[in-house]
Amino acid sequence: MRYRTCSCGALRLAHVGVESTLCGWVDSRRDHGGVVFVDLRDREGKTQVVFRPRGDAVVLTELAHSLRSEDIIQVIGKVAARLPGTENRKLVTGEIEVVASSLKIFSRADVLPFLLGDSEMTNEDLRLAYRYLDLRRSPIIRNLRLRHRLEQSTRLYMDALGFLEVETPILTRSTPEGAREFLVPSRLHPGHFYALAQSPQQYKQLLMAGGVEKYFQIAKCFRDEDGRADRIMELTQIDIEASFVSRGDIFVLIEGLMERIFRDTLEIQIPVAFPRLTYRQAMDRFGSDRPDTRFGMELVDIGDIFHLSSFGVFRRVLDAGGYIKAINVKEGMFYATAGRIEKLEQIAHRHGAQGISFISAESRGWKSPVGKFFSRLERDTLTSRLHIEEGDLVLFCADKWQTACEVLGKIRLYLAEALQLIIDTGRWDFVWIVDFPLLTLDDAEGKWVAVHHPFTRPKQEDFPLLDSGEFGQIRAEAYDLVLNGIEIGGGSLRVHEPDLQARIFDVLGIAPERQSRLFGHLLRAFQFGTPPHGGIAIGVDRLTMLLCKTPHIRDVIAFPKSGRGQDLLFSSPSTVENCQLQELSIRLAGNPSSS
Ligand code: AMO
Ligand code: AMP
Repeated sequence: MRYRTCSCGALRLAHVGVESTLCGWVDSRRDHGGVVFVDLRDREGKTQVVFRPRGDAVVLTELAHSLRSEDIIQVIGKVAARLPGTENRKLVTGEIEVVASSLKIFSRADVLPFLLGDSEMTNEDLRLAYRYLDLRRSPIIRNLRLRHRLEQSTRLYMDALGFLEVETPILTRSTPEGAREFLVPSRLHPGHFYALAQSPQQYKQLLMAGGVEKYFQIAKCFRDEDGRADRIMELTQIDIEASFVSRGDIFVLIEGLMERIFRDTLEIQIPVAFPRLTYRQAMDRFGSDRPDTRFGMELVDIGDIFHLSSFGVFRRVLDAGGYIKAINVKEGMFYATAGRIEKLEQIAHRHGAQGISFISAESRGWKSPVGKFFSRLERDTLTSRLHIEEGDLVLFCADKWQTACEVLGKIRLYLAEALQLIIDTGRWDFVWIVDFPLLTLDDAEGKWVAVHHPFTRPKQEDFPLLDSGEFGQIRAEAYDLVLNGIEIGGGSLRVHEPDLQARIFDVLGIAPERQSRLFGHLLRAFQFGTPPHGGIAIGVDRLTMLLCKTPHIRDVIAFPKSGRGQDLLFSSPSTVENCQLQELSIRLAGNPSSS
């Protein structure tokens, strides 16, 4: 017996008269004066099946009458054209129906915990607990299909360019290189732990030492981070590394990959080469190292206008080497109610600023808490620099460069959403961010930390700064790929010289003994001839999310963890049996509640 002759999305007018066998889920059942209509659904679509209580089909129709949503059935019947006026234009199969002559019920479904059609309205935890039901919804299937296409395209593209897909270990060792790790206790080595790979970073560099030259992998990475909108614990990367490559080689490779992925998934041609901004430019103009360039409202530096200012706040900031940055919210005056300004002030405080201020360009003149401190010349220069017109709202922040930029960058994004400034939802704004700082000072710890990871190469011309101790000024051969304001990839050219790598570990406060304990494998590999190399990793989950135009990263993952890091379907993490702990030589300190 063949289960089916075609899918539920296949039949058209051209098939009228053909006897077909379909299998699927009962999407809905309607009874009309004894006639039973069933929308039969499978992965490919829906087909209307009709049961008429005539002749031999009376018993059949009675059975059909008992069908409930999500029962799984097989139907045999002839394809017929629907009566004029009863076609369903929303379905590709909407011009036909299958007149049933046989019905077989494979599986009965209980009443569902939520209506599939209303899933958007259903509490997410409930949907995740019954993820297999949620997966039946067409948007999720569409997302999984797109993700599949993206991964297949990637493999074909990389293979054609001679890259080898090499699998690297997931159980690896704990090294302090970035995110917090998941630890796995070892049974065979009591008191010892593996760490789950945060990324295949060191392995792919060792593959270069091993002469693989061109590597890629669709790799799972694990980071014990708090979940956020586009941040998950268990992510997938298109991980790439190559020997004897320049930054330009990597850009061309990735631009080609993006072109291919967009063509294969959305059938659109995106223009390459992507624009580039230095980190400094991105921060100066957009207040973010992942700028959303789909709209304007750029940050403008106005510090020089106030070099003679008598206004204390500005004076103090400028004298301390700080900056005054501003944005002009065009026609934003009407937005500037006291409550909303307060909300913007909260954003500013949350991101570390002392305060922000505003000018509301009303017809009777400027309304501003600080306007009275401005001289005529300052007002005029401000007007022309920011193109202030009646009805505009200007916001400014005086602070350290980084803080002033970041605060206005956050406010810029907040206002873009509030004022719906991104109208063209078909835009794909790629931008490369280059020349990141190599190191940043962790104020709390008073320690230098790597902005990307410790294997990132300083720019050749900045090598002297390593010796002169101006660590904050050193730029890295690192780059991020940003799409519509989301960081979808990041990478760098690497250090391949043992001395340089040891020097960078020094600056990061990793003493020689710890260097050889934690990174000895890498440092030693560099001593046996390692080629210059570099690479990148593209975040598959984030890229898919953008391609699917969903704001929820969990929508592009078959079995996602909840925002609190739980698998609600399997109820994990869970407690384990005492004997399991004993085997691992683990004794729990507290008394965790059982789950
Ligand atoms: P990085 O940590 O920048 O680089 O990661 C590369 C890309 O992976 C995605 N990504 C994430 N997506 C969702 N949730 C997360 N928690 C998450 N973390 C990262 C982002 C990011 O741009 N080994 C280096 C790459 C290299 O240097 O070659 C690395 O992992 O899209
Ligand atoms: P203060 O002297 O702190 O009362 O501040 C006077 C006004 O200056 C406030 O109402 C704010 O509008 C503005 N202001 C304070 N701090 C800043 C800042 N860092 N950047 C911009 N404006 C500020």
